[in-house]
Amino acid sequence: MGRIPIFQWANEANPLSLTSKFILPQLNRPNPTCVSHLDSVPIIDMGTDNEAQLIQEIKSACQGFGFFQVVNHGIPLELCKNALDVNTKLFHLPYEEKSHLVTTTHLEDGKIFKYYVKDQQTQEKISMWAETFFHTWHPHDHGFTHNLPNNPPQYRSVIAAYATEVGSLIVKLLGLISRGLGLERDYLKTKLGQNLSYTAQANYYPPCPNPELTLGLPAHTDYNVLTILLQEEGVTGLHVLKDGNWVAVDPVPGALVVNVADQLQILSNDRYKSVYHRAVTNEEKKRVSLAMFVGPNHDTVVEPIEELIDENHPALYRRYTFGEFVREFRNQEGKPRKVKEVFKKY
Ligand code: OGA
Ligand code: NI
Repeated sequence: MGRIPIFQWANEANPLSLTSKFILPQLNRPNPTCVSHLDSVPIIDMGTDNEAQLIQEIKSACQGFGFFQVVNHGIPLELCKNALDVNTKLFHLPYEEKSHLVTTTHLEDGKIFKYYVKDQQTQEKISMWAETFFHTWHPHDHGFTHNLPNNPPQYRSVIAAYATEVGSLIVKLLGLISRGLGLERDYLKTKLGQNLSYTAQANYYPPCPNPELTLGLPAHTDYNVLTILLQEEGVTGLHVLKDGNWVAVDPVPGALVVNVADQLQILSNDRYKSVYHRAVTNEEKKRVSLAMFVGPNHDTVVEPIEELIDENHPALYRRYTFGEFVREFRNQEGKPRKVKEVFKKY
């Protein structure tokens, strides 16, 4: 084995120890007494025959919460389970078997990374209590799987099948979201162009001896258009900021979590909200999640949709290419990010 990396890596046999590397400054710590389980993000049944109502429900969730869960979404539940299982197996490999996948510098296609925040006073990196496997994907061209691990052996085929299903769900959702904005069904799909960028991250949060001192993922908004998040049942870790308070997104059996990301907020001229969310750790159980993101390609020009601008609703953001936005996002690595704000006119 090579040099011990600056961050520690967990596996089933070797739990992480809670060293100072993981302990957040007081200000950044999750305060469990401030989290509500009473309020809940909407749970939307996509199996309904009443499409007009479905469009309304999605619209109001995008306006109010920026997050919702969908059930009867059309993706076989067995496939969802397998997609989490292969990721659990990947993260549980002994360090020697996954060390070739690990990077400690920056997020890289096909690599396992640890997110961090910077202590704003000391500029020291504080590691998240998590590992993240980041990769690109595509709904139809499964060439991307060559960049995925071949151990566990089913990893590539399961993720390829899951990618195809998520691709279809995204097309459906973009259609319903377009209709909710008063636009033609294929409006957003056309607007986003041909070569969409598809990225994914599988997150592994090992049990943590003191969840009050750590985070699994710091508060952030997703920078793409839409995120489809599959989370493990029976353990809560995702929190969403609603009216200044953290709300836990308790997993619903068979559901997928959908969230509005930055580009959709900007395209909708702030009608829809890309909201802050975070992942917390817990003492007893590990937690695995799989986030599939879709965005435009880097050359695509993004600006508020013309049809949504009038005298009373002036364009709130300037034109930019998605590549510019991603560069700004990367520039803010480790800081409390405010990326949309850089492109805001007022
Ligand atoms: C993400 C994310 C939340 C979770 O991957 O962007 O917000 O519950 N994940 O793992
Ligand atoms: Ni996220």
